[in-house]
Amino acid sequence: MADTRYTARKSVADIVASADAEGGHRLSRTLGATSITAMGIGAIIGAGIFVLTGTAAAQYAGPSIVLSFVLGGIACAFVGLCYSELAAMLPVCGSSYTYTYATLGEIFAWIIGWDLILEYAMGAATVAVGWSGYIVSLLHNVGIDVPPALSAASGTVVKLADGTTATGVVNLPAVVIIAILTTLLVLGTKESARLNNIMVAIKLTVVVAFIAIGAFFVHPANWHPFIPENTGQFGNFGMSGILRGSAVVFFAFIGFDAVSTAAQEARKPQRDMPVGILGSLIICTILYILVAGVLTGLVPYAELNVPDPIAKGVDAIGVNWFSILIKIGALTGLTTVILVLLYGQSRIFFTMSQDGLLPQLFARVHPRLQTPHLSQIMIGSIVAIVAAFTPIGVLGEMVSIGTLFAFVLVCSAVMYLRRSDSDAARPFRVPGVPIVPVLGILFCLLLMAGLPLVTWIRLVVWLVIGMIIYWSYGRSHSKLRFPERR
Ligand code: ALA
Repeated sequence: MADTRYTARKSVADIVASADAEGGHRLSRTLGATSITAMGIGAIIGAGIFVLTGTAAAQYAGPSIVLSFVLGGIACAFVGLCYSELAAMLPVCGSSYTYTYATLGEIFAWIIGWDLILEYAMGAATVAVGWSGYIVSLLHNVGIDVPPALSAASGTVVKLADGTTATGVVNLPAVVIIAILTTLLVLGTKESARLNNIMVAIKLTVVVAFIAIGAFFVHPANWHPFIPENTGQFGNFGMSGILRGSAVVFFAFIGFDAVSTAAQEARKPQRDMPVGILGSLIICTILYILVAGVLTGLVPYAELNVPDPIAKGVDAIGVNWFSILIKIGALTGLTTVILVLLYGQSRIFFTMSQDGLLPQLFARVHPRLQTPHLSQIMIGSIVAIVAAFTPIGVLGEMVSIGTLFAFVLVCSAVMYLRRSDSDAARPFRVPGVPIVPVLGILFCLLLMAGLPLVTWIRLVVWLVIGMIIYWSYGRSHSKLRFPERR
């Protein structure tokens, strides 16, 4: 028998069989391509476009942030194709954790599961900080001023309307939204397809209205120079600035992979998965490019480093009611993203716990509420603490590097499985293997290269902590390696 200590991997056949069994008992195939695309858009459009576009334009790319979005979109298209193949082939819980368990084996699955905390939990914290920026701005419109000390992370310098500055201490609005959404998730409020569709419609209306109305108020002079000259430092404008901007706004694309979690509920996964994943990606990429173009045309890029850049763009138009509407739309959009990410995190922990890699606590379900309440509360508490004390820039970069790393493994998984399980049924096949997955890997690595060294160091430290936990816990509790403990 093969030594399964490190290489233990689940078989594709087992995963598909368990998906069929579960699918038959619990989930009905009710989602069509449109609902799945809407779900994707619901998970994708959030803090990336509403917040980080401004930060990235002001600090790294200027108006050429538009090109950063093009680059990010291309990278995600390759990865999206790979996700589509795996989501249609392994329609289980659909996370890259599962895909990796079936391909590279347990230790890599653990690494990816641990890494996904960056995407989901840290992602939720990032979006909550974005939510805080918009609620503070909206409250200001109605005459309530939240002091910066209570609405920004410690050390964050906030510019006040009168030109003076103040320093943040704790980001309370971010804590509040996480607490509310965690409570909803514990109580079992499922985002029904219809509610999600309504929220997505509001979000899309706001984004399209911003583009359509904003386009009439653009000052083309703001687009010059389109690619500001590099300051002499890597990433500060010029070509390297486009790359760094791209790595930062990559955050805006995260979420299309969440579509894969619905594979078991898709009417025709072989068609609906690729359509949903790629369709939502294409729609969002086009919208992002247009928003970035309009925003940098409305406001000189140097002024966009604010918590609510889109609102700032609307202020430049000078229509107060539209500004309020945009803020309400942004808050709705950000709320759905936080909800999906907090929910997704508990779901990944649930699977990891069932595999024995995390304590059973994470798979415990409340008898009446039918939700993993303890896990959800723990996740909510930690995410709230992180959001309370960390600036959005640091968080966003960590989420980007962590997700890019996961995407590299997903592209690798496609190539690996084509060899190891060449006979498995593939309702959707990535065209041009290995070229497309290899391009996916190269583009992800390119974007990762655009992130600062300190973010890389943080990633390494994070992964080392993960390895210590695996070696001291998961390795000896794995149900795959110790089936008798099942
Ligand atoms: N793509 C999501 C966002 O921008 C995570 O908020």
